[in-house]
Order: sequence, then C-alpha cells, then structure tokens
Amino acid sequence: MDARQMKIRAAAEALKHVESGMRLGIGTGSTAEEFVRLLAEKVADGFSVVGVPTSERTARLCLELNVPLASLDEMPELDLTIDGADEIDAGLRLIKGGGGALLREKIVAAASKRMIVIADESKVVDVLGAFPLPIEVNAFGMTATRIAIEHLAEKSGLTGEIAPRRSGDGLYKTDGGHFILDASFGRIPDAEALSSGLNVIPGVVEHGLFINLASLAIIAGTGGARTLAA
Ligand code: 5RP
Repeated sequence: MDARQMKIRAAAEALKHVESGMRLGIGTGSTAEEFVRLLAEKVADGFSVVGVPTSERTARLCLELNVPLASLDEMPELDLTIDGADEIDAGLRLIKGGGGALLREKIVAAASKRMIVIADESKVVDVLGAFPLPIEVNAFGMTATRIAIEHLAEKSGLTGEIAPRRSGDGLYKTDGGHFILDASFGRIPDAEALSSGLNVIPGVVEHGLFINLASLAIIAGTGGARTLAA
C-alpha cells in the first residue's frame, strides 16, 4: 500500500463520521484533498453537506468537484472539521501549516464542535518538533518578529534555525497575505508553553501548534486504520 492509498484509507474512515446535513470544515493538503474527492462522490449521490474550505486551494478543488461551499461568515458554527496534520503526538497535539493554511485551518477548527485529523503513520511522533513549526507573521517588521521568536526560543531552551519560507524567487505568501517563518526546533518538549509564548508576540499572526482542538485522529497504516482519541 503506497502513501496515497493510506491517505485515502484515513479519509474514507473519516467520511463515516460525516452525516447528511452537516456543516463541515474542510482542511488543506494532500490528505484533506483525498477526503474532498470521497466527499464529492457522496454529494453526487445526494448526500447533503455544506463545507467551509480552509484555503483557496481547497476551495478550488471543492468547486471543481461540486461540493457546496459557504464562507465562515455565512456559516460561523460548524459541526465537524476534517483536516490533515504534519505531526501528531499521543495527546493529540498537532503541528500544522506545512501547506501554509494554518491560520484559516485554526480558525475553522476552533469554530467546529469537533475536529478529526486524518493522516498516515509517518505523522505520529513521541515529541513534536522534527517537522519545522510554521509561524505565520505579519509582513510588517518580519525581522523584528523573528528576533522576538528567537528570544522566546532561547528562553525556552529551544535551538534551531527560524527561516522565512520561500516560494520560487521570493517569499511564500499565505492566503491572508502574510509570511511564514519555519522554526526547525527539532524537539518541542513543552508545546503548551511555546504556544502561549508565541501567542503574545506582536507580529505573530498564528502558529502551527494546534492544542486542544482535535478530538480524534484517524491514522492509516499498511495493516488498517487506528484511532487516537483526546
Ligand atoms: C496545511 C496543513 C496540512 O494539513 C498538512 O501540511 C498535512 O498535509 P498533507 O496531508 O499533504 O501531508 O497543515 O497547512
């Protein structure tokens, strides 16, 4: 079973939690896209859902596949969000934002009664941090913001490069028009403390630590799918 088949397996399991009539948050990334494809088949069969996409990329795929969409302002309370993740630990703490959509993903997850994460076994870790932590920052004063994050990291005993994400010849820009700093900390032993520290740095728009947001993770492996519950 290849990586794509595992993503499809996780997405198919997640689809079992979706009921007709639900207001759905729809995540971003290759695993979330497999979910959109399966959801589109159900919609074509008469299943009724309305989705709030977490990125322009997801919105485009949903429109292409005729999955009905609303904006979060039109539908501010959601029943369930299904999204991927870059890392998941046993406490269902996540690193997200590898696809650059962390701000909308976090807003949508927070507006949902439940969040189900879909991933393959490679995303499960003992301690978060091997995947560089994406930190979305305002374009204004990005260097000052990076220095403030470096000071926080130093105080927290975290080391590693904090580098602007690039795209082609320039800096990567998010759907919200911000930039991303990727922090290669290696290990983040206290994700809660780091999250709180980042939350109060002016210039940090949002960061990819998702804590107390996911209620279930569906992890697909070659032998089947298992769940991690909060
Ligand atoms: C996008 C995300 C994605 O959920 C995360 O990067 C996982 O993506 P994939 O399913 O392609 O591995 O957080 O911002």
